[in-house]
Amino acid sequence: MTPDPNILCFGAAHFDRTLQCTETFVPAASNPVRTLHRKPGGVSRNIAVHLRLLGNNVAMLGAVGDDGDGDQVSEALSTIGIDTGLLMKIDGMATAGYTALLDETGELALGMMNAEVYDLLTIDRLEPHLTDLQARPWWLVDANLPTESITWLAKNKGPTKLCAATVSPSKAARFKPVLGELDLLIANRAEARVLTGIEIKELAEAKVAVELLRGKGITDVVITLGAQGVVSSSSSGTAFWQPLPTRVKDVNGAGDALYSGFLSAYSKPDASFEAAMASGLAMASLTAETEGTTVWDLTLDAVKERASKAESKTL
Ligand SMILES: Nc1ncnc2c1ncn2[C@@H]1O[C@H](COP(=O)(O)OP(=O)(O)OP(=O)(O)O)[C@@H](O)[C@H]1O
Ligand SMILES: [Mg+2]
Repeated sequence: MTPDPNILCFGAAHFDRTLQCTETFVPAASNPVRTLHRKPGGVSRNIAVHLRLLGNNVAMLGAVGDDGDGDQVSEALSTIGIDTGLLMKIDGMATAGYTALLDETGELALGMMNAEVYDLLTIDRLEPHLTDLQARPWWLVDANLPTESITWLAKNKGPTKLCAATVSPSKAARFKPVLGELDLLIANRAEARVLTGIEIKELAEAKVAVELLRGKGITDVVITLGAQGVVSSSSSGTAFWQPLPTRVKDVNGAGDALYSGFLSAYSKPDASFEAAMASGLAMASLTAETEGTTVWDLTLDAVKERASKAESKTL
């Protein structure tokens, strides 16, 4: 018998498509294109999949439309053992998706995000499941959920740990009303700016920002600074972490991977913040060495080996 999922991931699961014009891009016209790729994406999905590949018992609460993409999203999650009992199929809606159109030179000509179906993850749809939701000790909530639903979850979390994934600068603001209820926040510098008003260029500014967020009542705060590394603040103080040595191939999804590595380690009994940071940095590094957002051939040994090299410096 598989144990009950203990980490419940709320938010986006969809496909990202990239198309490229085969001739000069002409706006407001039919352009011949080739499809470069179609890949699964969505912050909550990215985190859930790595959590599962790291051996955790994971469930996903999200929304898909009644279309082929939705069926594929759902099947891809359940195939690897993620519980999709709370993934809602909404009649008459299309599954969310990001489509990038590149011009003939490879520059972005148009980006389109349809996230309408996530606006339907309303309190009305969550409320009937409250007992089930509260039975999970860890919630990972991405900012694709409507603000009202995020606020409702924060109010009803009980002893469950509420972990926030900010998604993008525009969506990060949805966590503003509930900062004091968060147990964990991991954000990149642009998202942290929205939440603090601080433009983070140097480590000194990152230190002010993480401490300000912690001062609002968030138990643990992590701000990621791309190739510069990470600044963290927890009950053990404020620290800087250098990125682990990485042969960078594709940094897409490195932030989501850091989240999954952190949460995988932190949700274990007797976990330390430092061990969770090391695991997060290891997952970010392994993902940056991989094309795409998912390291499908992940091994616990590879994560452990890389994590052993993580070092922090008190700020
Ligand atoms: N060029 C790089 N070299 C080494 N490590 C990197 C690089 N870029 C990112 N990382 C690692 O990944 C972590 C997260 O990266 P970043 O701050 O860019 O997150 P992000 O903006 O949320 O990314 P995404 O949204 O694409 O997942 C960094 O803290 C670092 O450890
Ligand atoms: Mg990110």
